[in-house]
Amino acid sequence: MEFLRDIRRTHRNGELRAEQIGQTVALMGWVNTRRDHGGCIFIDLRDRDGITQIRFDSTIDSELYALAGSLRNEYVLAVQGIVESRGDNSNPRMATGAIEILAHRAEIMNAAEMPPFHIRDDIDTSEELRLKYRFLDLRRPQLQNVLMLRSRVNAAVRNSLMNDGFLELETPILTKATPEGARDYLVPSRVHPGGFYALPQSPQLFKQLFMVAGYDRYFQLCRCFRDEDLRADRQPEFTQIDIEMAFVDEEDVYALVETLLTRVFKEIKGLDIETPFRRFEYQDAMDRFGSDKPDLRFGLELKDISDAVADSGFGVFKGAIASGGVVKGIRLPGGGLSRSKIDKELAGVVKVYGAKGLAWLKLDDGVLGGPIAKFLGDEESTKIISTLELEDGDQAFFVADKQSVAWHALGALRVHLAKQQNLIDTDAYEFCWVTDFPALEFDEDEGRYVAMHHPFTSPLEDDLPLMETDPGAVRSNAYDVVLNGYELGGGSIRIHKRDVQEKMFELLGLSEQESRQKFGFLLDALSYGTPPHGGIALGMDRLVMLLAGTDNIRDVIAFPKTTKASCLMTEAPSLVDPRQLDEVHVELKKAAPKATDGVTEG
Ligand code: AMO
Ligand code: AMP
Repeated sequence: MEFLRDIRRTHRNGELRAEQIGQTVALMGWVNTRRDHGGCIFIDLRDRDGITQIRFDSTIDSELYALAGSLRNEYVLAVQGIVESRGDNSNPRMATGAIEILAHRAEIMNAAEMPPFHIRDDIDTSEELRLKYRFLDLRRPQLQNVLMLRSRVNAAVRNSLMNDGFLELETPILTKATPEGARDYLVPSRVHPGGFYALPQSPQLFKQLFMVAGYDRYFQLCRCFRDEDLRADRQPEFTQIDIEMAFVDEEDVYALVETLLTRVFKEIKGLDIETPFRRFEYQDAMDRFGSDKPDLRFGLELKDISDAVADSGFGVFKGAIASGGVVKGIRLPGGGLSRSKIDKELAGVVKVYGAKGLAWLKLDDGVLGGPIAKFLGDEESTKIISTLELEDGDQAFFVADKQSVAWHALGALRVHLAKQQNLIDTDAYEFCWVTDFPALEFDEDEGRYVAMHHPFTSPLEDDLPLMETDPGAVRSNAYDVVLNGYELGGGSIRIHKRDVQEKMFELLGLSEQESRQKFGFLLDALSYGTPPHGGIALGMDRLVMLLAGTDNIRDVIAFPKTTKASCLMTEAPSLVDPRQLDEVHVELKKAAPKATDGVTEG
């Protein structure tokens, strides 16, 4: 078949309207469907812009009609014809539903095999198959819309930051490990036997060095790589909107990010988001929501009843307090959950976080009932009712444990109850800042302190003396921006004094020699006139997820990895030729068996 080079595309498939009736046009795209009505064949032609109906009429050109009859789904077609009105048959659900094209010429640009699944949005196909044939899955309008949205978000972010005087600067991918708390992806060096690069977990140190070097305002839409346990909102490689500013304090960063997000939400969603965002100190967020990324679209706040139950007749409560723990609870307005639902479902939710059980009460006619009510004295009952502000019909759920277990268990229960009771307004966007995180966490396994954000985060000025006396109590000038229960971004004001940075490394258990070996270049830089500076990184994938209304990060990444960090399409990671290994001086302990993979959520 000869190629009709003179068919030149005039329009996209979502473009034509009644105004173009009578015009000769040329469209190109994929055959979405073919319907044969005997004497008349209808093709829905699809591209990323939309769908246009094409009509082939047997009375016009029998050869052309035969060609139409040979079309199959996903064939690539060029067609030229006249825009006609569909009259009474117009389809108001299609953007181009008022018209169709009466074909005069057509050319099959390429044939296609029968795809392994229908290229349609409402398909019921396993995610494995869709990921294996991602290039076909990406043809679906839903995914195309998300990626087009993502492109618009990229542009909006760039515009906003350029507008605010930021420079877009790039940083290395083959680099040295910077600690963000995950495992590194390593790349062996051929030229330096035994030497490894690490892929950046973030450009943290490079962006700080830009500040040292006087670039003042930096941003980058950069890829970061972390070998960590994957979840629905985590990928091994992901994109950050990475930002750093000199001569600023946290208020400048908050204002900048609020402006950026306001512009993005206005441009992408047409929504005016309210600023300034609410703020919660870490301790307060944990106490009230049991989470450092609180979902503020609903209430169900945690309450502490430790004081009321210190002498409780219920041994579990009394025992927890006696051993230095707490008792916290959540009120469920209107209650109504059965004993078996509580024991089977809710108790399971808190158990994951180490809670040893879930105690519960209900209030009826001003009197507490439920399995543990009989152990409670009058005074503590009254206090419990008033602290939780219980009303008749309410139920309340309690965890008695050390503070961190009570926080996380009830934090998870809070979200579970909100979903179960349909308390979440899915159209709402509730932003907040969580601030004043502890600088250090004690890692029981390693027997040392680890940085809660990263080791370059500045302690709060007031807490500097605690670095000597009580490291665990040092709060840092770190902040997260949170949206609807997701950590959208995290950042901090950095340490810009060499002695403070050295002290921090020391607290993290690094010897002077190790600090020099790992971070010598940073320590050197800090000796040469480093301005105060700080910044943040926003998770681009999470931002797009929230804008697109999905809770699966793979939906917003063109070529994502499974939860086992593999690509089902390319089959990466894969075994390599022994010669290649030899070149990079790597010897395998044993040949890895071919991984069988799944994409089920962990
Ligand atoms: P942090 O580690 O908090 O900070 O990361 C910033 C944001 O990146 C997103 N994010 C991820 N998204 C998808 N998959 C992942 N595996 C993943 N890990 C993180 C989150 C997170 O809030 N260098 C610091 C920033 C700074 O201090 O300026 C950093 O990387 O949305
Ligand atoms: P038990 O004394 O183990 O029979 O537990 C009595 C009730 O208290 C059960 O409903 C348990 O789920 C609950 N319970 C046990 N341990 C805890 C705990 N640490 N915090 C809250 N409730 C608990």
